[in-house]
Amino acid sequence: MKKVTLNNGVEMPALGLGTFRSKDENAYNAVLHAIKSGYRLIDTAAIYGNEEEVGRAIRDSGVKREDLFITTKLWWADHGYLSAKKALKKSLKRLGLDYVDLYLIHWPKDYSDNKDSYQAMEDLYFEGYTRAIGVSNFSFHHLEHLLEDAEIVPQVNQVETHLYLQNYKLQEFCMKRGIYLEAYAPLMSNEIKTLLQDETVSKIAKKHGKTNPQIALRFLNQREIVAIPKSENAQRIEENFAIFDFELDDEDMKELFSLNKAKKTFPDPDNFLI
Ligand SMILES: NC(=O)c1ccc[n+]([C@@H]2O[C@H](COP(=O)([O-])OP(=O)(O)OC[C@H]3O[C@@H](n4cnc5c(N)ncnc54)[C@H](OP(=O)(O)O)[C@@H]3O)[C@@H](O)[C@H]2O)c1
Repeated sequence: MKKVTLNNGVEMPALGLGTFRSKDENAYNAVLHAIKSGYRLIDTAAIYGNEEEVGRAIRDSGVKREDLFITTKLWWADHGYLSAKKALKKSLKRLGLDYVDLYLIHWPKDYSDNKDSYQAMEDLYFEGYTRAIGVSNFSFHHLEHLLEDAEIVPQVNQVETHLYLQNYKLQEFCMKRGIYLEAYAPLMSNEIKTLLQDETVSKIAKKHGKTNPQIALRFLNQREIVAIPKSENAQRIEENFAIFDFELDDEDMKELFSLNKAKKTFPDPDNFLI
């Protein structure tokens, strides 16, 4: 499995399974099947309500804990130093784990809330409850403010990124500071149909004998972006993982870059209200 190295030396698999909207036995079965198919990175969050099922699948997979990379996230309502510290411990209890590999602030709040939560995450990191820390849905200004006080440069920024929202400027900004960009909704989430019907992607998929989702994921992989496609379907879980046996050439990449429309399917982090 291809891996990337985060700014603290921790290795993170280059592709993982997302679990947003996966519930109960569907979440359990998806995670178990993914791990049996070779996935080693699983992305969950306290708000997904599936940490217990994810944890159970991890235990039942028979794969050693140290060979897996588990991400969970601090929910918006749990911002603040003490709440953040408690929140990770509750997530660990639900997961049945002693530590996670990556803990992220799920959505930014006010700068002062972000700072307090992040300080708690730094302490959780020093105490060994997480091997890496980071943020999610942070844009330039959130990162700039956070970096003013941060003792640890976030290892990851997880943001919506796909063929229609390529975030190349945000990626450049992050890379310069040692922050790894991770793509959520890499298949455009609920708008997957748009990806499946895109003519340029279909043409490139046909050329390589691959599917449109595989082209979308390979594009991110060649841009050095970690992607976490979600599927609950065994065949599609395997399909999304089969992207390491072909390469997009310069012409393909140029055409795929031209599809960028800065089109978001999730809320704007500056207008995220519960
Ligand atoms: N940090 C954040 O704020 C945030 C926000 C959103 C998501 N995330 C994370 O990122 C992960 C991925 O994002 P997402 O779940 O929103 O969207 P996504 O992975 O872009 O797309 C998932 C959708 O595509 C379908 N699908 C998956 N593989 C397919 C394939 N090969 N062919 C056809 N359809 C396919 C899935 O249906 P089936 O299940 O039926 O296959 C599902 O409807 C999440 O699960 C979550 O872990 C994080």
